[in-house]
Amino acid sequence: MKAIGVFDSGVGGLTVVKELMRQLPREDIIYFGDTARVPYGTKSRETVIRFSIENILFLLKQDVKLICIACNTSSSVAFPAIASHFKVPIIGVIGPGAKEAVYATRNKRIGVIATTGTVKSGAYASRIRQLDPLIKVTSVACPLFVPLAEEGWLDNSVAARVADIYLKPLKKAGVDTLILGCTHYPLLKPVIKKAIGSKVRLIDSARQVAMETKRILQDQGMLNPAARKPRHRFYVSDNPQGFRALARRFLGEPVGNVFKVSHV
Ligand code: DGL
Repeated sequence: MKAIGVFDSGVGGLTVVKELMRQLPREDIIYFGDTARVPYGTKSRETVIRFSIENILFLLKQDVKLICIACNTSSSVAFPAIASHFKVPIIGVIGPGAKEAVYATRNKRIGVIATTGTVKSGAYASRIRQLDPLIKVTSVACPLFVPLAEEGWLDNSVAARVADIYLKPLKKAGVDTLILGCTHYPLLKPVIKKAIGSKVRLIDSARQVAMETKRILQDQGMLNPAARKPRHRFYVSDNPQGFRALARRFLGEPVGNVFKVSHV
């Protein structure tokens, strides 16, 4: 049986892998983290599209049955341009996250926090408006959240101050639902919650993405029927030791099977 392929700009996509492992415990997973070229969030559209195509081609060489783009920046910038050009199903994180937020909001005010590239693309806002044109979307780029999460500064005074500053316009906008539109942000949930207020519902796309993956595999008869221990392999384009060290925080468990590849 073929594996599910997942890629991200680096280690953050493991937050999606964690949810895939939980909801699809029999599935083999092949992960690619582009650690040599991270971050994608500050790069141009053309570059993110090129990197995303290269990552997809790498996963296709591993003969995967479905590809999940865990990176929000790739999902918002590259997914609409490239997803229909490949034969395997490709899932991005924007649609599932937007859907869950539209379902959750009561006052029709949704906030989006993400990388600069994702915010600039307007992908979340346009998907939300397609689903409900009456919803008001306020988006804020929070680039410092990525290094804070990687540094493990998840709930200290620096993280709290940064969160207060970034989330101020969203408080002002009165959002009742906030999309964590970047792979790294789920790690900062406690500090984000404190800054925005406990009544605001935080949406992390990973759960919905895993549900959608399961649904597609089910519909296409591609679920792995075997009751055996699944194989999980992790490929990175640089620094496998660094990846291994950070992986534990993002996945909640240590990873074995990390290999360095030059995929381009
Ligand atoms: N994985 C990226 C995302 O979800 C965050 C890190 C980066 O900028 O590459 O947008």
